[in-house]
Amino acid sequence: RMAPLLAPSLLAADFGNLQSELERLADSAADWLHFDVMDGRFVPNISFGLPVLQAVQRHAQQPIDVHLMIEEPQHYLSAFRDAGAANITVHYEACTHLHRVIQQIKQLGCRAGVALNPHTPIWVLEDVAADLDLVLIMSVNPGFGGQSFIPNTLRKVAALKELLVDSGSAALIEIDGGVTMDNAAALVEAGADALVAGSFVFNSPDPVATLATMRRELET
Ligand code: DX5
Ligand code: ZN
Repeated sequence: RMAPLLAPSLLAADFGNLQSELERLADSAADWLHFDVMDGRFVPNISFGLPVLQAVQRHAQQPIDVHLMIEEPQHYLSAFRDAGAANITVHYEACTHLHRVIQQIKQLGCRAGVALNPHTPIWVLEDVAADLDLVLIMSVNPGFGGQSFIPNTLRKVAALKELLVDSGSAALIEIDGGVTMDNAAALVEAGADALVAGSFVFNSPDPVATLATMRRELET
């Protein structure tokens, strides 16, 4: 088993000190920086958007993993690429023409991801799986950090793993929401390749040490 990629979610960082937050993450076990964009329409909360991403990009040492929890993401893809996104993940539930959106993200030179809400079955991705670089399984209802992990996610990850293998897809499986050391090993066992963690990392006394512990304990 390979150690999963670790993607701390900046939603839980100190926004008044983003530069120093990013500088201390620079030498940490973080592989990606997860950036949660919320529009107050697709999800019942508003977070941050393009100008903040530009600022993050100036100080980030890791690729930025942008999670768009917004309606009509097709209008903003090139703007997010220009602002620094390496990965762009859109929600299945927000895209009527998902196939086209995936191609657009790839044409921009970004990794293309699709996120599924907890109620959305994995089989909706069957016909686009081979085109995807990333599938993000929401393990909480999107909109807020600090919620608790939905246990059914484990079964879902295992089923997705099978679907990806059957489709000949090389897409990575990313898990987002309520990830802690209580569920991380089981997620990796089920097939997760990347773990997002917000409150577990940033609400800990030493986020860099917490990331190091996750890396160490998930390596076998
Ligand atoms: C939730 C966001 C998550 C969030 C995770 O809508 O997509 O990325 O930041 O936070 P935790 O790890 O606290 O559940
Ligand atoms: Zn997220």
